[in-house]
Amino acid sequence: MTKSAIIIGASRGLGLGLTRELVARGWDVVATRRGPAAELEASGAEVAVVDMDVRADVERLAAALGARRFDVVLLCAGTMGPDHAFAERTADGVDKAAVADLMWTNAVAPVRAGRVLLPLVKDGGTMAFMSSILGSVSLRQTGFAELYSASKSALNSLVTSFANVDAKGRVATLALHPGWVRTEMGTEHADLDVDTSVRGMADVLGAAQPLECRYVTYAGDTLPW
Ligand SMILES: NC(=O)c1ccc[n+]([C@@H]2O[C@H](COP(=O)([O-])OP(=O)(O)OC[C@H]3O[C@@H](n4cnc5c(N)ncnc54)[C@H](OP(=O)(O)O)[C@@H]3O)[C@@H](O)[C@H]2O)c1
Repeated sequence: MTKSAIIIGASRGLGLGLTRELVARGWDVVATRRGPAAELEASGAEVAVVDMDVRADVERLAAALGARRFDVVLLCAGTMGPDHAFAERTADGVDKAAVADLMWTNAVAPVRAGRVLLPLVKDGGTMAFMSSILGSVSLRQTGFAELYSASKSALNSLVTSFANVDAKGRVATLALHPGWVRTEMGTEHADLDVDTSVRGMADVLGAAQPLECRYVTYAGDTLPW
């Protein structure tokens, strides 16, 4: 049977790559973007809602999709902050509004969106959140990108709440680490190309077990929280 997915934040980078990969595998994909996204238009996905900001518009998306049900919902949208230099800022040297937006976009908004979209996931399906290995508290050995990392740690914590309460016994919950990938966020210095990362994540999404809650890499390896 044809599988189906919703991907939130698919205008470019990993969201666009995953959309293309799942469409190439024969999935029906509803993909969202905030503004014009020519490459997404050409991907073969159904672009459900133009101007869908993960911080605000998820109810509109849920209403537009009505009674449709999906195997996978992936919350992929994320930010490093207002600019690349922000990643190097520390907690003592930042603007409160910028930190609030980082935390809202990367941690709170995806889980709120996950709760709104959960009824659209089929029994035995998967709710996935794009995290990062930088969100692992137990693996952390540097101070690199401390605010971005904290936002992904907060996401991970909220994801476990979501798994324990909302998704429990009905759908799998995944916190994904895509690898360090050559996107606008990952920069050209990153280890992986988008195709390698998204092929791995598509395999992980296709193989999730209904009751599991896992923090998992694109290669299928489980990470400590
Ligand atoms: N690349 C890496 O090495 C890496 C590693 C670990 C985790 N990640 C995570 O993977 C996800 C995708 O990253 P990427 O590398 O593909 O980054 P990217 O190339 O910078 O793309 C970011 C995507 O998120 C969307 N987005 C940002 N804020 C949004 C909002 N408020 N509402 C809706 N969409 C929003 C952007 O849309 P616009 O085009 O409208 O701005 C864009 O589609 C992020 O959650 C990131 O934290 C990436």
